Amino acid sequence: MKSTEDISYVNQQEAIEIDQMLMGPLGFTVDQLMELAGLTVASAIGEVYSSSEYTRVLVICGPGNNGGDGLVAARHLHHFGYKPSICYPKRNTEPPFAGLVTQLESLSVPFLPVEDLPVQLSSDFEIIVDAIFGFSFHGNPRPPFDSLIRRLVSIQNQQRTHEKAAVIISVDIPSGWHVVEGDICGEGIEPDMLVSLTAPKLCAKMFCGLHHFLGGRFVPQSIIDKFKLKLPPYPGTSMCVRIGNFPETNSSAQKGIFTASVNLEVEENPIDQVELYKFQKWLGDASEAGVKEPHYMVLSTAGKDAKPSSRMVSLEGVNKDGFVWHTNYRSRKAREISENPHASLLFYWGPIKCQVRVEGFVEQVSDEESERYFSSLPLDIQIRPIVSKQSTLIHGREILHHQYKEFEEKYHDRTSIARPKHWGGYRLIPEFFEFWQGEESQVHLKFRYCVEEIDGRRVWTIHRLVPQLAESASSL
Ligand SMILES: Cc1cc2nc3c(=O)[nH]c(=O)nc-3n(C[C@H](O)[C@H](O)[C@H](O)COP(=O)(O)O)c2cc1C
Repeated sequence: MKSTEDISYVNQQEAIEIDQMLMGPLGFTVDQLMELAGLTVASAIGEVYSSSEYTRVLVICGPGNNGGDGLVAARHLHHFGYKPSICYPKRNTEPPFAGLVTQLESLSVPFLPVEDLPVQLSSDFEIIVDAIFGFSFHGNPRPPFDSLIRRLVSIQNQQRTHEKAAVIISVDIPSGWHVVEGDICGEGIEPDMLVSLTAPKLCAKMFCGLHHFLGGRFVPQSIIDKFKLKLPPYPGTSMCVRIGNFPETNSSAQKGIFTASVNLEVEENPIDQVELYKFQKWLGDASEAGVKEPHYMVLSTAGKDAKPSSRMVSLEGVNKDGFVWHTNYRSRKAREISENPHASLLFYWGPIKCQVRVEGFVEQVSDEESERYFSSLPLDIQIRPIVSKQSTLIHGREILHHQYKEFEEKYHDRTSIARPKHWGGYRLIPEFFEFWQGEESQVHLKFRYCVEEIDGRRVWTIHRLVPQLAESASSL
């Protein structure tokens, strides 16, 4: 099994460009890529689910190329000894799709209209292949795919209650997931197996099922170089390779708190792309939804006496290195951070009903970084930290006003002043994120990402939590 540290995950744009390059200068055709994808999917299924035990397979095909991959997979599964049936409600009658349908019909593989599907899919099929939508899909699934997806979700619920249920295998992306953010609404498919094609898409980091395979044993070196792809070696002559770790089980999982979790090796930069993307997206959504100051956050610290203290601060910037704010290095928070570098941040954006918790350790940013930020501020803001002695007692606010006026007069002909040495930035380097999304239905969703030490290595562990009922009486 390949550890995810050696594997690149690509976003939608990169996936599109890779396909364009394959089918442009590199001379591949769409039929060839479909053939390779379908063969990969069938091979991965064959590695995990034996045809004697999991004989009957329903392949649900969407209208695009993902559906074509499903048609090819069905043909190979037939030759591998499975009994596939196809549900292909929105047939594409152009080549290569028409040819694939003809090939399957010549093998007497049945095509089932949606209306003829059994009420309980699990009673007629041991495996369901979700080949509905791929990485280029966006928006909301339309009929009949919306209800087909819901039927797959209800199969998962059967699995949770230990009823006999078919296993679900998704081709490249679980249908309905966002290519980067994954199952945004938390009500989508959670397949048992994901077969990523060419290179896994970023959302695959949130895949919590048991079996993650990669297929793409044809990717030319020029693509690997151009996109700086790290792809695993394929064993023997296999078309697919298992990637990722098996999900962990823990006592919380047994209590039903976590649906599943998955580990990713911590890369050189402690914030992983997915969390950063998600945070920045929510920050942008909050701003668009009219939150006036979405970058204000609660910073909580505790000194050596372990007594916590919280206050608002303003997020100056966030990137892969961490969350930065600026403050007085002689303040209470600064003293507490010097005694104990662990701190937490909290964001809540009411109009979009989202909360983000971030925990980690704090370091001072470099003098150059503080300097850069300070010099970018207007003069009246620069004066404030000189006047303000944070966390100290003053004898009346008039003194502050008076001092402020004095400094204003003193520097009135200047555009900038030197940064006081006691004013600068801190950076929180995250080790824990929790994204919480309130839902109208009162069933709230949570994702947790934490860095854990496993076998001496630091890994990001993603816990997708079972949606929770509202925990307060408020209308959230
Ligand atoms: C909305 C808001 C934003 C604030 N932003 C900052 C900030 O970016 N930096 C800062 O030092 N104080 C900021 N403050 C003031 C702090 O909340 C706090 O009063 C001050 O930093 C002293 O905190 P301490 O005594 O716990 O160190 C802000 C206050 C509010 C209400």
